[in-house]
Amino acid sequence: MSESNFNRRDFLKSACISVGALSLSGCVDTDKSKSADGGNEGGLPSVDVLVIGSGGAGLRAAVAVRKNNPNLSVVVATKMMPSRNATCMAEGGINGVTSFSGGDSYKLHAYDTVKGGAYLVDQDAAIKFCELAGPTIAEMDYIGTLFSRNASGGVDGKESGVPGGVAQRFMGGASKKRCNYSADKTGHILMHACFDDAVSNGVKFLIDHELLEISAPEGKCEGVVLRNIQTGDFYPVLCKALVIATGGYTRMFYNRTSVPYIATGDGIAAALRAGLGFSDPEMVQFHPTGIKSGGALITEAARGEGGYLLNNKGERFMKNYHEKMELAPRDVVARAIETEIREGRGYGEGLGAYVLLDVRHLGKDKILKALPKIRHTAILFEGIDLIEQPIPIRPTAHYSMGGIEVSKFDDMSTKISGLYTAGEASCISIHGANRLGGNSLTDAVVTGKLAGLGAAD
Ligand code: FUM
Repeated sequence: MSESNFNRRDFLKSACISVGALSLSGCVDTDKSKSADGGNEGGLPSVDVLVIGSGGAGLRAAVAVRKNNPNLSVVVATKMMPSRNATCMAEGGINGVTSFSGGDSYKLHAYDTVKGGAYLVDQDAAIKFCELAGPTIAEMDYIGTLFSRNASGGVDGKESGVPGGVAQRFMGGASKKRCNYSADKTGHILMHACFDDAVSNGVKFLIDHELLEISAPEGKCEGVVLRNIQTGDFYPVLCKALVIATGGYTRMFYNRTSVPYIATGDGIAAALRAGLGFSDPEMVQFHPTGIKSGGALITEAARGEGGYLLNNKGERFMKNYHEKMELAPRDVVARAIETEIREGRGYGEGLGAYVLLDVRHLGKDKILKALPKIRHTAILFEGIDLIEQPIPIRPTAHYSMGGIEVSKFDDMSTKISGLYTAGEASCISIHGANRLGGNSLTDAVVTGKLAGLGAAD
């Protein structure tokens, strides 16, 4: 292939394999004499570490394995193209303290996280999580995430070593600006950096494959059954360690959710059938600002940048609910919107009811620079240009705080030996009853790496 006609699809293909090719790809030790366990019965496809799910958590897990030990083979099995998943739906940014000069600290981040989660948080895990969050921003910057930058160019970033000063904004429930962002497309941009990093590190992808069952006789994980969605064929795949990073289950709110069609909780269900606990299943987050028609995300960054909510009386009603107004934790804002609608201060009827989010006062330049994606979303779904008109919004199912029960945060291990989990599919109750905006991307990349290191070990 000549350099001139090399495109992204070719790049993607170069990283994809088929189940049949597992034994040819160096992923399988077909020579039984070399295999630590004496080889597998009947030459079944096998790989050292199998990761299920290609969002931020799965990709960081896969890379962590390869960086820890490049001799280990790693395959990521995914229901769709690796760059299309719920990680892209976290748009406003990724939380992490990168500077202490303004009085911020890991402790304060942890405090906000615990308080935002209604104190139903595993506080030890939350503290460790926030300690890892700051350095993780530098790591994401280093692998090529195209963060927006501070105009001052680096003053804020110096202490943590972040070059060039990654721009930060407020998100709900945060007492300091610590949400690091790329305009209002952070998840999407981070996702692509993680994907490129995975391909560069030799991670292989099995696309169009879904997880059906985990095999874990006597509490030890030995592999999975996958289904090829294109052909309907089933395959067993053996692995020495398995990472479940399949995301959450908010697609069950099918008529009003911000997440893609794939967010169906199948990894959590398979883990449950294999004997693991499903922690905090009832904790489902409704993001306050889903667009009226269908619930696509209008990022919290809109409020972080100064946007506000109005009822049908033209009143900025959040003043009646919380001192932080529109930047209260998400559950507070979502409930306030539903209360306004229920008490007759919304617009429209039934499932079509809504209130307004107004960002017009930010001005065209700011909107185009900081919020271009939601402007596009509003034009696409409602035919509204938010430079000129407020957007109709209503809460939308966005995030599953619950997930596969984790035994140990340090390596994201579970009660099944050899089985690890990460990201939204996992739960050690870092987010309690309500995750703060900006903590999901952090969760994906922090727990993804820990699970990868655990699996490599
Ligand atoms: O509103 C948002 O941008 C969502 C971010 C998140 O879920 O962390």
